[in-house]
Amino acid sequence: MTARRVLLIVSGGIAAYKSLELVRLLSKAGVGVTCVLTEGGARFVTALSLQALSGERVHTDLWSLTEESEMGHIELSRSADLVVVAPASADILARMAAGLASDLATTLLLATDTKVLVAPAMNVRMWTHPATVGNLAVLAARGVVAVGPDEGAMACNEYGPGRLAEPPAILAAILAQLDALPGGRARTGPARRGEAAAERAPAQGDPDGHGLAGRRALVTAGPTHEAIDPVRYFANRSSGRQGYAIASALAALGARVTLVSGPTSLPDPPGVAVRRVESAREMLAACEAALPADVAVCAAAVGDWRVADVATHKMKKTAGAAPPTLALVANPDILATLARPGEARPRLVVGFAAETQDLERSALAKRVRKGCDWIVANDVGAHTGTMGGESNAVLLVTAQGTESWERMPKREVARRLALRIAAALAAALPRR
Ligand code: C5P
Repeated sequence: MTARRVLLIVSGGIAAYKSLELVRLLSKAGVGVTCVLTEGGARFVTALSLQALSGERVHTDLWSLTEESEMGHIELSRSADLVVVAPASADILARMAAGLASDLATTLLLATDTKVLVAPAMNVRMWTHPATVGNLAVLAARGVVAVGPDEGAMACNEYGPGRLAEPPAILAAILAQLDALPGGRARTGPARRGEAAAERAPAQGDPDGHGLAGRRALVTAGPTHEAIDPVRYFANRSSGRQGYAIASALAALGARVTLVSGPTSLPDPPGVAVRRVESAREMLAACEAALPADVAVCAAAVGDWRVADVATHKMKKTAGAAPPTLALVANPDILATLARPGEARPRLVVGFAAETQDLERSALAKRVRKGCDWIVANDVGAHTGTMGGESNAVLLVTAQGTESWERMPKREVARRLALRIAAALAAALPRR
């Protein structure tokens, strides 16, 4: 595969300085970057800095005759695998939604058929203004994906959503988009003129290029918090990373994904509808509300039990008194509930098995007990570093047998699983 390329549009705003760090991270990740700097962006960072970090000429002017003779501005965006607008100001989002071509950046955005990812950054009131909300909805409907904004203190002395996502989070969103693209290319519209068919190679493991366009996916991720009293809860060590990566990978193949997540510190994956919940019972309700779905992937580490009677007030320590005893009751099994035969059952139901011993035997038994189609089994023994870590070594247990996948980054496990799901749905997996 040829080196991947991003066209980075830097629009105006105080957060533009973070684009320098993003260029550095992209270059370090082996992604080529061509920068376009808007007039507003040039008030905050210089073309010279972007040029020094990207090692490439920075484009600023729609009317540059030399550039037109070197590389037409339309070719500039089409030669990239992904167009990224970071930071994306309220103004450029509005011009994108309206289809304006009033400067080089918006002309490129209008002329391209390459996938676009935006990282919005603006004042909190601008972000929550119905005009911006409407513009984002228009862009999302056209396939533009967004990362961030984050919530926090802003340069304008206000607090709230509107801060540019941190460069590592933007990098992760870019890599997720690039990774899952057939042949490393991201395109939403018609193919480029003169493009060779061979250039549109389907993704590995998806030989027919099925993708997941038109499919709905439900993913659970993260731990659950089971309340003891208003300030205490039971939890577990799940980070949610594997489930979030699966939601991203399914979305990158074109699925409409709902991610039902327990409490995590992870940002919402771009292009995914995220429902944040706390307890197992809330997670089940959110899952049921997200149906119908073609596939459900239950990667959450759901608490097996909850406290039978949650105290209404904070439980007090009383000197000399014995510690309280907590009576527990079983939580609903979300995976088994979703896998139950019936009209609402997703055609493919995938569960996880996190074990510390007898991995394959437990996974085989779990598949039958839960009534799901596949089990992704992983060893979460402390020595493996899987729980909370970046990589995973899994067994995939299906009706056809067990496959062992070598240890790989969780993002790659997710990508392979998403491709297998696409292939299985394309093969019209019959209802069990
Ligand atoms: O029973 P166990 O927790 O080992 O099963 C793990 C699988 O079941 C995972 O896919 C997990 O998401 C799912 N599960 C669930 N609801 C529960 C317990 C587990 O969905 N209450």
